[in-house]
Amino acid sequence: MARHLITSAIPYINGIKHLGNLVGSQLPADLFARFQRARGHEVLFLCSTDEHGTPAELAAAKAGEPVADYCARMHKVQAEIAKGFRLSFDHFGRSSSPQNHKLTQHLAGKLYEAGLIEEVTEKQVYSNADKRFLPDRYIEGTCPNCGYDKARGDQCENCTKQLDPTDLLEPRSAISGSTDLEVRETKHLFLRQSQMRDTLNAWIDSKTDWPVLTTSIARKWLNDGDGLQDRGITRDLDWGIPVKRGDEDWPGMEGKVFYVWFDAPIEYIACAAEWAEANGLDSDAWERWWRTERGAEDVRYTQFMGKDNVPFHTLSFPATLMGSGEDWKLVDYIKSFNYLNYDGGQFSTSQGRGVFMDQALDILPADYWRWWLLSHAPESSDAEFTWENFQASVNKDLADVLGNFVSRVTKFCRSKFGEVVPDAGEMGARETALIDRLTTRIRAYERHMEAMEVRKSAQELRAIWVEGNEYLQEAAPWATFKEDPETAAMQIRLALNLIRLYAVLSSPFIPDAAKTMQAAMQTSDDSWPDDVPTALTSLPPGHAFTVPEVLFAKITDDQREEWQARFSGTRD
Ligand code: 2FM
Ligand code: ZN
Repeated sequence: MARHLITSAIPYINGIKHLGNLVGSQLPADLFARFQRARGHEVLFLCSTDEHGTPAELAAAKAGEPVADYCARMHKVQAEIAKGFRLSFDHFGRSSSPQNHKLTQHLAGKLYEAGLIEEVTEKQVYSNADKRFLPDRYIEGTCPNCGYDKARGDQCENCTKQLDPTDLLEPRSAISGSTDLEVRETKHLFLRQSQMRDTLNAWIDSKTDWPVLTTSIARKWLNDGDGLQDRGITRDLDWGIPVKRGDEDWPGMEGKVFYVWFDAPIEYIACAAEWAEANGLDSDAWERWWRTERGAEDVRYTQFMGKDNVPFHTLSFPATLMGSGEDWKLVDYIKSFNYLNYDGGQFSTSQGRGVFMDQALDILPADYWRWWLLSHAPESSDAEFTWENFQASVNKDLADVLGNFVSRVTKFCRSKFGEVVPDAGEMGARETALIDRLTTRIRAYERHMEAMEVRKSAQELRAIWVEGNEYLQEAAPWATFKEDPETAAMQIRLALNLIRLYAVLSSPFIPDAAKTMQAAMQTSDDSWPDDVPTALTSLPPGHAFTVPEVLFAKITDDQREEWQARFSGTRD
């Protein structure tokens, strides 16, 4: 039995994620976790909310709530939606947890001891009215380039020009509107990533099996231009993890917090500690996943994320862990994704464009979305969601191919043999050929799933469903029954066993439908078909089953048009 540690990029707390976010990290991570569990491996699958930083503060202010309350509330909202999509996290943690505070401060202390943190004095805008330093995006003013009067200190939304706060004309605080601003000196901590360039280069070079999308982004940042830049890891914000080294105060860092991108990946580790606590386990329980000297040497660690997250996971986070000089487990494989576009444009959280996770579940159950998203995952290039394509896939793959098979087999059996697996008949050449083809396809499916080739896995699974349909079409038990009821009984016995097999194989993609199929077959045997002929005798003659409800309803043209119209604008 292997041990798989699996993490999904942790979603920002400030709002509900769209389907593009979902397919870029949480959903494929869930697919992989479910597959490894189904194969009988030990899995720890973790995700959390990413709760710090300016966006969290701004969203809380907009909602008129204290930021801690806002985060607690939105964490519950995101957890509920994750459940709705059947994301099977072993724990859904929070980057604001006490565990993450402690661990982030601990690692900062270790990096400091290793000489990898530099204190840098910078000039920054201070608001006398607000009595605080203002982060770039908390400063507004007139764009020197286009004259737009609501440009932010980091960028003008109107003309997209990147700005420094000091470029703005008539700058004012975005918090109070005050223009009583001055430039003051302030100290910040920088992680000296540049010192680790050779180590990181060698580490990336050793990852010869990683997807090109992952390594090319890492190499670009390692080698382009000035190479790996040192990064500021502190901010002047109220909300966040206070800057300390271990338990000790950090002179000159009073009132400052760590930068959100410093503490967010550390939450992958802290989340395991939260998981242990939530389950009444001691620290050994999580350290055996994360500390190589306490058992994590045997762990295979896989991360899932969108391509924009790759630099932080290939450079900054490994630099933090390696730089600490401690025995932290490093990632073994990073699966990254391109973007999913929406109906001729981009999904956009800030503009509310596209379909968001809560809205998706309001109109259809999770499996419909899971199937479409995974079978169209943006792996080798960006992909596009269109309502026509969604309707066609659901209706063809789920309703016609899989749903129809299950319905025809169970109903035919009920009408001719009753709701039990029929007894008579021997398999012949057609069945042997089918089983050979299925064996080949199931082995291919396993290989694609192991390799996290999401689209190829979906195609192979669909082909496995099609085999059953084609067999049924050729064997035509309804016709056979008239002349040779014994052979028809054998054909249906095999087909009922195929339903159980489909439940097992499909469960990583469409867990609810898989459960329905398994429940209809009234069996607890969910073992993986290591030997296909044996797997197809799991339901013996005389075994009772029931006819399930319709597995998948077709999407009508009216529904498609209505949804298309409903989701054509922007969310408020
Ligand atoms: O892009 C995002 O949604 C980030 N919140 C991902 C953070 S992943 C990690 F570092 F924890
Ligand atoms: Zn401008």
